[in-house]
Amino acid sequence: MSVQRDDVVVGAAAGLAAVVERIEQVAPTDAPVLLEGETGSGKELLARRIHARSHRAEGPMIRVNCGAIPAELVDSELFGHERGSFTGAIGTRQGWFERADGGTLFLDEVAELPLAAQVRLLRVLQEGTFTRVGGTKDLRVSVRVVTATHRDLRAMCEEGTFRSDLWYRIGVFTVRIPPLRDRPEDVAPLAAHFARKSGVSLTGVPLVPTPSELEALRGYAWPGNVRELAAVVERAAILGGGRRLEIAAALGDARPTSPPTVASSSAVATPAGALATLDDAMRAHIARALSVTRGRIEGRGGAAHLLGVNPHTLRGKMRRLRIDWSVYRT
Ligand SMILES: Nc1ncnc2c1ncn2[C@@H]1O[C@H](COP(=O)(O)OP(=O)(O)OP(=O)(O)O)[C@@H](O)[C@H]1O
Ligand SMILES: [Mg+2]
Repeated sequence: MSVQRDDVVVGAAAGLAAVVERIEQVAPTDAPVLLEGETGSGKELLARRIHARSHRAEGPMIRVNCGAIPAELVDSELFGHERGSFTGAIGTRQGWFERADGGTLFLDEVAELPLAAQVRLLRVLQEGTFTRVGGTKDLRVSVRVVTATHRDLRAMCEEGTFRSDLWYRIGVFTVRIPPLRDRPEDVAPLAAHFARKSGVSLTGVPLVPTPSELEALRGYAWPGNVRELAAVVERAAILGGGRRLEIAAALGDARPTSPPTVASSSAVATPAGALATLDDAMRAHIARALSVTRGRIEGRGGAAHLLGVNPHTLRGKMRRLRIDWSVYRT
């Protein structure tokens, strides 16, 4: 479940200085950490940083998306199950807690955990022990728990959808990551970082945004935060054929607009109004689908499905057009 990724934290000395300082303070301890922040603000990146700076860095770092597990399987996923404990439990399975032994368990979207699973989680955090589903033996593991959410846990506790005792426990040390619009000083360094990466991946040569391009980027509100900025810069690089950044066109695609007409569609027109080549239009269109699906190609709701093509065909086109899906991946 965990994939190694580039873990540079841009803005560590600027807009994220206070956040990074708190992370560095708590990382070496075994205290649970709750990361709060809007979508795309960097929660997962910082969770990985906590692990990397802890004495568990050599151990496993396992991310579990609590929102993606069907409610009836949460217990078995987290705590494992014994053979035959329910229909479909063919063999004994280790849960994520056991697999993360000696390392860090990152419970992403923790607010989505059903109430019954919240009780079990609280017990592990308090007592360090749990049993597999259908098991009787108490198991003990050494796991540091980092959680993240984009939701307001206090409000959820008030409405009774999140247990307040669990909230106190996971929230011993809470780090709130400010949205990008509240740290405009980070926009330029982030854009430069993503432009460098996009250029290298498209042509081998890093791209550098001009001052006026940075100005345009600073003027946008970034509801999707850093992930959206990364996608806009990547799209700008693709639209510019990997040789320059078409920031205006890429931003045009990011902003909600009235339904495009043939003349105004930014996906098929360059800023000068001239028609883009078919390859450029296709690149921009595929990039847009990938931003929507966060890099997912296959399956229902994947980019291939959205675009009405076979995943194999889409992968082929992406290879030819040199589109790097991992940039959109979350
Ligand atoms: N400060 C930063 N420096 C460099 N890259 C960043 C920074 N913040 C976020 N990113 C990048 O932006 C993307 C989104 O970040 P991340 O996945 O950590 O967000 P998130 O808060 O977990 O979002 P979500 O709530 O949607 O899961 C990732 O590719 C991440 O590497
Ligand atoms: Mg995340």
